[in-house]
Amino acid sequence: MSPHANLIAGEWVSGTDSRPNINPSDTSDTVGDYAAADAGQVTDAIAAARAAQPGWTKTTAQDRAAVLARTGAELMARSAELGELLSREEGKTRAEGVGEVVRAAQVFQFFAGEAIRALGEKYPPVRPGVDVDVTREPVGVVGIITPWNFPIAIAAWKIAPALAFGNAVVFKPADLTPASAWALADILHRAGTPAGVLNLVMGRGSVIGDPLVDGVDAVSFTGSVPTGRRIAARAIQRMTRLQLEMGGKNPLVVLDDSDLDTAVNCALNGAFFQTGQRCTASSRLIVTEAIHDAFLDRLTREMAKLRIGHALDPETQIGPVADERQLETDWDYLRIAREEGAEVVGGERLDRPTRGFFLSPALLVGATNAMRSSREEIFGPVASLIRVKDYDEALAVANDTEFGLSSGICTTSLKYARDFQRNSAAGLVMVNLPTAGLDYHVPFGGRKGSSYGPREQGSYAREFFTSVKTSYVLA
Ligand code: UN1
Repeated sequence: MSPHANLIAGEWVSGTDSRPNINPSDTSDTVGDYAAADAGQVTDAIAAARAAQPGWTKTTAQDRAAVLARTGAELMARSAELGELLSREEGKTRAEGVGEVVRAAQVFQFFAGEAIRALGEKYPPVRPGVDVDVTREPVGVVGIITPWNFPIAIAAWKIAPALAFGNAVVFKPADLTPASAWALADILHRAGTPAGVLNLVMGRGSVIGDPLVDGVDAVSFTGSVPTGRRIAARAIQRMTRLQLEMGGKNPLVVLDDSDLDTAVNCALNGAFFQTGQRCTASSRLIVTEAIHDAFLDRLTREMAKLRIGHALDPETQIGPVADERQLETDWDYLRIAREEGAEVVGGERLDRPTRGFFLSPALLVGATNAMRSSREEIFGPVASLIRVKDYDEALAVANDTEFGLSSGICTTSLKYARDFQRNSAAGLVMVNLPTAGLDYHVPFGGRKGSSYGPREQGSYAREFFTSVKTSYVLA
């Protein structure tokens, strides 16, 4: 079978190279071969987008809504099949994979509505006879660069608003997970996206990242901090509009008065589900003294019960790490944490009937907030357990990080819950809920080193994907 091709100007175009997509639960299973674009194909895709964008803007909002609604409907109808494909290439469990496809479908349905919603404003004149209108126009050609950990949902929440507001897109998915991206591009293509409005270029960021960033009007990126910084430095040379969503080192505060079941469930889910590979993962569990030992005892008992294995095995609760390089990074941080003086509970490489990248969840007991393992994003099933005296210290430790994406608190006290909600230096705050697992209709994004540029998702998505125009007209 020939490799899955790139989509450029409405045509499926073979790459200059191709790469196998390997299942992290079973490295003998190749999910498929996928094209790898070169710089020339990226230039072609940008040119196609430029040519197509004015026509797309001129379609009616109803036309654009219809394309998005058809895409959402097909994603929903095929959520079982596409969820399985996603699990096979990424390693999250089948339930997590299906859930992610459903979420992508909901995102398209939401933005089908947003395409039609009124966008402009009319102001009363402050000068006699001068009417003032504020309208929003598309930004133009948007480069969309997505990570491997949510291969379809993040693509959906960037592509859907881009298209809803009349932009054309050049979509570069993570090299590790092209299958979900290809399936989404195929659906959008068949749903009636005009040629050139949605282009797919697969391949390595090191090869096609720069020409993409150099040629578009705006870049929406989710991924690692170093890559985000590189993109920003490059994009700013041309004053390219930027939206970056990067790392997290998200705190989950557990207070003495919390409900232990709730706290342990939040920690298990937030730190370890989806193999801890979420930028919203709870990677610092900050626990006050009186509940610390009971929390540790319960959490480690629950961790020991988690079933880790092949992502498509119905028994599995935690799938493999996404690839060998990420596994080595996780492993390295476990060594660093030990050297720094933490005790590692769990964190073992596991053998399973298939060869994959299986790692049991790890708790870094006796960690301090100063340790590298508590400061740097690991992006694996690893969480620091940090003991603190009281709420005030917990809040200070929670905010003592270069990141500011998500934060959480488990408490039965209204006073502490409200205080944390107000004073947590994060873009998302959770009360008695895991720091990860978000809704599609509200803004998403963080502060400090986690995010840059306007928020994603919900109605707020318009801030990035449209450009405001203020018109003064002498009546
Ligand atoms: C979630 O927690 O439901 O890359 C979403 C990430 C985030 C998305 C998290 N951009 O993990």
